[in-house]
Formats: sequence, C-alpha cells, structure tokens
Amino acid sequence: MCGIVGAISKDKNIVPLLITGLENLEYRGYDSAGVAYFKNKKINIVKVTGKVNKLKDKLKENESSNIGIAHTRWATHGKATTINAHPHKFKHITLVHNGIIENFNILKEFLIEQGYSFKTNTDSEVAAAILNYYYEKYTDIDKTIQEFMSTIIGSYAIGFIVDNDYENIYCLKKESPLIIGVSNNTNMISSDIRAILKYTNKYYILDDFEYAKIDVSKVIIKSRTGDIISKELKEYIDEDANSSKGHYKHYMLKEIMEQKETILKTALPFIEDGINSLLTLPDLTKYKEIDIIGCGTAYHAGLVAKYLFTELTNTRCNVYLASEYRYQNNFLNKDTLSIFISQSGETADTIAALKLVKKKKCPNLGIINVKESSMTLLVDKCLYTKAGNEIAVASTKAYTAQVTILSLLALSHGYRNKTINKNQVLEVLKEFKNIKTLITPILNKKETYLSIAKNIYKEEDIFYIGRGLDYALSMEGALKLKEISYIHSESYAAGELKHGTISLIKKNTPVLCSATNDKLNAKTISNLKEVLARGANVYLITNTKIKDDSFKIINIPKTSDFIKPILIVIPYQLIAYYTALLRGTSIDKPKNLAKSVTVE
Ligand code: F6R
Repeated sequence: MCGIVGAISKDKNIVPLLITGLENLEYRGYDSAGVAYFKNKKINIVKVTGKVNKLKDKLKENESSNIGIAHTRWATHGKATTINAHPHKFKHITLVHNGIIENFNILKEFLIEQGYSFKTNTDSEVAAAILNYYYEKYTDIDKTIQEFMSTIIGSYAIGFIVDNDYENIYCLKKESPLIIGVSNNTNMISSDIRAILKYTNKYYILDDFEYAKIDVSKVIIKSRTGDIISKELKEYIDEDANSSKGHYKHYMLKEIMEQKETILKTALPFIEDGINSLLTLPDLTKYKEIDIIGCGTAYHAGLVAKYLFTELTNTRCNVYLASEYRYQNNFLNKDTLSIFISQSGETADTIAALKLVKKKKCPNLGIINVKESSMTLLVDKCLYTKAGNEIAVASTKAYTAQVTILSLLALSHGYRNKTINKNQVLEVLKEFKNIKTLITPILNKKETYLSIAKNIYKEEDIFYIGRGLDYALSMEGALKLKEISYIHSESYAAGELKHGTISLIKKNTPVLCSATNDKLNAKTISNLKEVLARGANVYLITNTKIKDDSFKIINIPKTSDFIKPILIVIPYQLIAYYTALLRGTSIDKPKNLAKSVTVE
C-alpha cells in the first residue's frame, strides 16, 4: 500500500506541498511517515512512526526546500518503526516506494556479497541499494532505471532524488499507481491525483515500465528502452470537492448519513426515465453465467448480487474473493461475464484477477467508485458508483452504492430474461426513487443503536447470523464491527451454527441477526431460540411483525428484495459505529488497515 508524493518548484517551498499530499494519501496507510528534501545542498530526512500529523509537528515550521519526496507507510516488510519508515537513503539514492519487491532477499544477498550493508529488513531499502548499485556502475540515470526494471520482480511506484542533483526528481512504476502533476513552475509526483488537487488538476498517468525525469519546467517520460513517450495531459474534474467532516465527529458517521443521497445519485441514471433508463444498463442475457470478483466489503456486495441473480432472475452467479480467484482454475470462457467490484479501483488482488480475465479476452465489467483509477482504465466497461469520496477506512456508502448498481443490473436482467415482469420492475424503480424516505427513519434510530452498543461494547466475541440474503448481510455486519471496534465478530449461516460454532455461545454472548425473508424467517427464529437457550443476547433486524420479548428487535420497512439489503445494512453500520465509539477506537483510521489495498 503506502502513499508517495514528491515536488519540485522554481518559486515555492515544497515542504507544505509534501505534507498536504501525505495527509491526503493517508488512506493508503498511516503507520509511519517521512520526508526527504534538499537543504543547503544536503539531503535532510525526517521520519516518524504514526500519522502524518506527527511528522508535521516534528518538521520545524520554517523548513524550506524546492525539491523533495515523501511517504506514508503501511508496513509490509519490517515493523512500523522509524528506521523502517521511508524515505530510505542508500549512498547516492534517496527513495520512497509503494509496492513489494518480491525478489528482495536474493538481491540483498547479492548486494551483501558486493560489500553492501543494510540498516533495515525492508524490501524498499534493497530497492534503494539496487538503484545505487546501478548508478555507481553506469553513472547514468537512464541506464540505472532500465537495469533496475529488468532486475526487480514485484510491484513498485518509486520516486527518488540523487545526491548533488538538485534539479530533478525521478520516478518509475510497475503495477502500483503513479501520476505526475503539472503546473506552472511546480511539478509533482503522487500515488493519486486527488492528493495534490490543491496544487494542480493536470496530470500524466505513468504506465507500467515507464519512468520520468521531472524538473521545475519539464517532464520527460520514457519507456523501459529509453524512448521518449508523448502522453496525453489529463485534467481531473473534482465533482466531490467538499470532503470535510462537517459537524460530524467522524467521517464514517458522515458517510453513513450521506447514504440518503448517494444511493439515489448512483441509481438516478438508471431509474429517472423508468424502464428506458434501466435498459441502458448492459444486456447480460448474452451470457450464461456471471462471476463476481472483489475483496472485503466489495465481495460482500457481490454476495448480495449472487442472491438476486440466482434467486430472482434464475441466472447462475458465482462470487469469488479476488485473492483466491487469481490463483485458481476459473474455467474462463466467453459466455461468462466477470464483474469486478471495487471502491478504490486500486485493489491489487482485484486488479490481478481482472488482468487474468483480460488476458483470456473474456468479457468483463467494472463497478468502481474512483474515477480514473487503475481498474477503470483496464475494464471493458465501467459502471460508476456515485458514492463520492469515501474517506473512512470502513466502507459504508460505497457498499450501498455497489449494491444499488448490482440490484439494478439484476433487475434489468430479470426484465430482459422475463423472470421479472413490468409491474414488478416499476415497483422497484419506485422504491429506489423513494429511497431517502425509506432509509431516513432507519438512519435516525440513534438511541436504539447506542443502547445495543452499550450492551455489547465490552464483549469479546459477537456472532452475526442469517439465511440467504440475510446471511450475505450478516457478513458485512460482522466485518464492519470487527474492523473498527476490534471486537472479534464472525458471521455464520444461521442453520450452520449447530454444526460446531454453537459451542462458543455462552451466557450473554451477543448474537445479531436479520430475518427478512418470509419463507425462511421461521427457520431463522428457531436458530435464534437455540442460541437463546444457551444464554445468548439476541438482536434482530426484521421487516415482519415478530412479538417476542426475548429478542431486541429493530424494525425496517417491508420492500422488494432489491432494496432490502440497503435497509438491513444500515443498522449493522450504525451498531458498529456506536460500539467503536464507546470503545474509543480510531474509527476513521483503524489500526493495521488502509483504505486502498495495493499489495497482495
Ligand atoms: C471494509 C473495506 C474493505 C474493502 C476492500 C476492497 O470496510 O473497506 O474490505 O472493501 O479492501 O477495497 P476496494 O473496494 O477498494 O477494492
């Protein structure tokens, strides 16, 4: 993961630019941070463990430079210590790196034989050392970078500066994102254009095996063979400029509340003109099967879609974790549409899975939130979720936006393959148009969620159960809780508990459940009785009238299955939020996590 930024300017102090860039890149990792810049013709490096704020405090206010690079880290090789933080300096080369150098051990051994010694056990220090090795050997930057690219196995976005070379930043990339931002007298590099929008929205996207030399007025981009490449200068239009927390204590709560707007915004292009709009969605009737691939919350959105496609449109649908998919036999063929779901569009495993599908020239579709992200450039066709900037690490509004697109896709498919009739379609479209009215009362039940949170926040194990669509939702509920509250929470198919897991249920164990399927509710209630009999405290989300004092019940309105997942997940999101709040955890940036998972 990690975020990198660099800047060179004729007339600006670049230190504040680097800090702003890092603050905006913290979604990529935040366990340590550092900067390197020329000061009195010498490279000055400042590093800290922890978040960028700490780095800002450590840098003296009047620190000034016109060229530098910076990094915010999500540790892979080596703990989150100051010494392991970037930038890494190896003799002439000072570098920031995002990615993983897979053959770093072999390269390290080779370099040790050459007399090199290392201060850290990171792969990135080895990358700096290899660059230095070739630089000393060839005294030529082009040759150095080209040799580096031929030597390295793995992924990298790298920015580096060279001792005594006060006028250039160099950068190169393979598989990790890197852009070059361009403005008058100041040029920058960054993992993400959105991190430097305060300074410029004009940028070049570096492709794999390309590298660049950047000074205050020029950007020269070259291929791995050293040929100059002429690139399109892109312009980023920020439709979502307001990313402040407003009056909310956390981005997560703000983003949960924003679902009142983001679901409709995502749905609108496909519902505003009734069935005509719906039929602008891709026609899936030409495929025999649908494969859905994603990670974490995106995978959970896929599980919801599996239910909708299989149960409601009689279409075979499989859902895969991208990290598994990329290493298994997927029987790829032209009759299967592979749908890739991602908020960031940068998730390494999902990108790798997509590349497999593309290599076999099989049809694919992306459901992606971040414009111009790596995946949007790879997929055959992209349907954008309109969740806007999702800043909290725990995904909420992106999930409901993904579910929205998938629901509408299933609905249009059901209409086309005649498993769903016109009246049913119109009914669902009406519900989507009415989504704000449907979800506002659910969002507003703060007291209910807070009182549940008060009951569960001191527990160590919490179980989430459900059947069918409710089971898919329970997985998302359990994930939300564990990632921000650090409470161990697991999801199980309600009928599966008695095959082993029920042995873990003891007095006061919280069991959260949704039962929203008239055909299955009685079965689920029986399973709840089984855990109640063993002392559990049960919290039930339902759209049916259930009179039973032994459960704490959260009512949601009755709707079609296409809308239902959105209504069920909101209580789960808010219970997780208030539980984490009571535990005093770092809700927007939970420990060990990052918003964009760009390593495998
Ligand atoms: C959980 C969460 C993660 C992401 C996963 C995939 O709240 O946010 O599980 O869903 O890392 O990320 P994207 O959607 O960016 O591919």
